[in-house]
Amino acid sequence: MQARLTDRDPLQLDSDLVLVPFFRERPLGPLASAFDAALEGAISRMQGERELLGDFPERTVLPTLGRIAAHRLLLLGLGRPEQLDGYRLRNAVHLAVRDSRRFASRVGVLLDRPLLEAVAAAEPLAGTPEAVVRAVAEAVVMGNHHLGQLKSQDEPGEVTELELVGAGAGPELARALEQGVALGEATNRARWLQWQPGNRLTPTDLAAEAERIAARDGLELELLERAEMERLGMGALLAVARGSHEPPKLVSLRYRPEGPAGDERVLALVGKGITFDTGGISLKPNAGMVQMKADMSGAAAVLEAASLIGQLRPGLQVLAVAALTENMPGGGATKPGDVVRAMNGKSIEINNTDAEGRLVLADALGFAASRGATHLVDVATLTGSAVTAVGYPVSAAMGTSPELMEWLRRAGALAGERIWPFPLYPEYDLALRSDIADMRNTSGTTPAGAINAAVFLRQFTSELPWAHLDIAGSAYHVDSEWARLVPRGPSGVMARTLAHLPSEMTGERPS
Ligand code: BES
Ligand code: MN
Ligand code: ZN
Repeated sequence: MQARLTDRDPLQLDSDLVLVPFFRERPLGPLASAFDAALEGAISRMQGERELLGDFPERTVLPTLGRIAAHRLLLLGLGRPEQLDGYRLRNAVHLAVRDSRRFASRVGVLLDRPLLEAVAAAEPLAGTPEAVVRAVAEAVVMGNHHLGQLKSQDEPGEVTELELVGAGAGPELARALEQGVALGEATNRARWLQWQPGNRLTPTDLAAEAERIAARDGLELELLERAEMERLGMGALLAVARGSHEPPKLVSLRYRPEGPAGDERVLALVGKGITFDTGGISLKPNAGMVQMKADMSGAAAVLEAASLIGQLRPGLQVLAVAALTENMPGGGATKPGDVVRAMNGKSIEINNTDAEGRLVLADALGFAASRGATHLVDVATLTGSAVTAVGYPVSAAMGTSPELMEWLRRAGALAGERIWPFPLYPEYDLALRSDIADMRNTSGTTPAGAINAAVFLRQFTSELPWAHLDIAGSAYHVDSEWARLVPRGPSGVMARTLAHLPSEMTGERPS
């Protein structure tokens, strides 16, 4: 997709379609008003007659019948300005592009004054014109993503030319635009990986994808096969892989900033990469199991974040680690009650083989620490409990370092990805006491499943500053009601947030 910024008169935009964002019960901005005047008040008349309400994310296409250069307008309701954040803005634009790309390949977007003001008020961190330009570019690219990749006849259409009007122009904005396109494309690659069925994206396939990323974006690759995992004592990861015919892989990508090493810190991004989760011997019920093809969403996020970090080149060393295996109930599978030892020497009673994510993460966290990480962030579709607690529009965060949690929150705001903290009070430790081993992998009846999982993971963090993101809800949804507000299918969540995290840590964040 070609993207450019322009300060020319919006009435001269000769796109197939111009997106005109506007708010509920608020006057049109100056740019939209100019369109309204050129169309002899058609837009304000529709508002007056309550045909256009501006509810989120109302979409109305208006042919312009030759009165202005653009062929059509898409009036995009953004709801109430005080409720607009980066997440809602991206979802609205994403849905608008997805709906119209069939007939509109050259698209303009009006960045009118009320929009710029609303975003700035909602989240000052992400409210600069640069951040809005980046957000809209990301959203348009995400709107191009299509799900029918394996259909023999699929003609989704796409936006090939994008023009943004109203934010001004200049080198800073041009850089933001370019970054937005790259961030959107990486998000789409993560979504593509998530959507791949289990038979088409095995641990071997995902490791091959990591190799391609390393080659393309200038990262160092380390790939562990089963034999090396055995040598390193990764009994937890290996326990999950036992039930499958597909070999497990542990892949890591290292980014080194150029120039003299000033910053001693090494940020590890650790992703859960279960390419299919049947539950193992603790087999899942049939309903919804197909969604477990996306149980590698954490791995997709850290790999695509590493790709972006290779492109954005922050001044901090980053290590992305993905623990890849299937969770299957084959003849060699781990049985409930089996006890294994993780890389850090701790013994684990596996009382439920469906709590496999925390097992593979235990060894991936141990591995990251052994390779020099000073800060750990893991990301995983870890618990149904997180979905129950917060649903789809936000990721749950837990951790041991308020500083790291704050960097993450800020990176999330910049990315338009919401992050909300859950507590880790000491009482929760009770859940994982085992009679036979150092711990068990699931609680019996103690509630707070998302937190119990984090309490387990904390045992493998080598007391480094650590944050855990449970993206079980935010990574993926196929709920037809939610699809009205949040695009259906995989979201690629946390690829962008984690890509912004290093520059949040160094303070070189973009304006
Ligand atoms: N991959 C699942 C969690 C999940 C559930 C992700 C729904 C996305 C949507 C995970 O491996 C799992 O099975 N977790 C169990 C843990 C339980 C056995 C303690 C769960 O949440 O039920
Ligand atoms: Mn599971
Ligand atoms: Zn799982």
